[in-house]
Amino acid sequence: MFSFELIKKDSRTKARLGKITTDHGEIQTPIFMPVGTKATVKTMKTDELKNLKAQIILGNTYHLYLRPGTEVIEKAGGLHKFMNWDRPILTDSGGFQVFSLANIRNIVEEGVEFRSHIDGSKQFLTPEKSMEIQHVLGSDIMMCFDECAPYPSSYDYIKNSMERTSRWAERCKEYHNDKEDQALFGIVQGGMYKDLRKISAQDLVSLDFPGYAVGGLSVGEPLDLMNEILDYTSDYLPENKPRYLMGVGTPDYLFEAVERGIDMADCVLPTRIARNGTLMTSKGRLVIKNARYKDDFSKPDDECDCEVCQNYSRAYLRHLFNVDEILGLRLATIHNLHFLIHLMEEIRKSIANDYFLEFKSDFYKKYGYNNS
Ligand code: GUN
Ligand code: ZN
Repeated sequence: MFSFELIKKDSRTKARLGKITTDHGEIQTPIFMPVGTKATVKTMKTDELKNLKAQIILGNTYHLYLRPGTEVIEKAGGLHKFMNWDRPILTDSGGFQVFSLANIRNIVEEGVEFRSHIDGSKQFLTPEKSMEIQHVLGSDIMMCFDECAPYPSSYDYIKNSMERTSRWAERCKEYHNDKEDQALFGIVQGGMYKDLRKISAQDLVSLDFPGYAVGGLSVGEPLDLMNEILDYTSDYLPENKPRYLMGVGTPDYLFEAVERGIDMADCVLPTRIARNGTLMTSKGRLVIKNARYKDDFSKPDDECDCEVCQNYSRAYLRHLFNVDEILGLRLATIHNLHFLIHLMEEIRKSIANDYFLEFKSDFYKKYGYNNS
């Protein structure tokens, strides 16, 4: 079972309010999805994720295939049971991690040859293999096997890569065969070239997926360029299907994406910067190790009502990071996840009540972004 209901469209922007229904529950959109690459959102127990009101998390085909391997997860009865998470899971296909993590690779029509970043072992991932692994994982939303090309890349490179990604999408769809308890999303590629984005979107839409991702963005290009390509691409995606921008997780990128019709986004950034002591707050980023917080007993973020901000001071957090205590990583992660999950909740409220642009403008001023 998978469905998407478009609840409301903003009158001044392309922002949308929606609801995705899966076998493991509902997801209110627009949504930010915490990343649990190796069957864990780093440092968090699943009950803590629930307390944070996380509605869906990500897993990664590439990592879980290498370790612990599909046999173990199959024996466990799938990824939900293995990691004790009974809400929706989305799995990426490996078609990004192979390109960013693995070494010595050879891309051929059949798939991608690579060496594991863990032990150097030779591996081969194909669209069919990625589907097979994701079927074992049992994610509610699976992703097509694609190539996320680097930025910048030449027109010819992107054209070849995008066309192959379309052929791979067809093979994914064929192998998946509309397995009814798992929805397979297509991924639009095409780099920063509008005509290629259009062809990619049309190729994928003709395959009639239940949802579409925009890939190959937030790969080092300036925000203005991402906005332009996203704005252009989203017009070629069907209105009644969810749209997912892959790899975006800073407040400004999330606002800009939502403004351009995006319903879902994910990124390791909030949890990763938490572990090196950077907090996202209503007044911008706060580097907790900074000496000025040594005896600052105020809340990490005075506008945040997360468990951490209610109970612990900046000075205490700074101390934990300075003496390398594990609790510091956990508290910073809880706060950053709460911050983004709460931000998306506020964004949904602002769309529902027609003040999305005003909310964005107020947020940017306080956070310290240049407003546009
Ligand atoms: N994560 C971030 N960008 C991408 C992309 O283009 N493709 C895939 N599969 N995952 C991503
Ligand atoms: Zn907080």
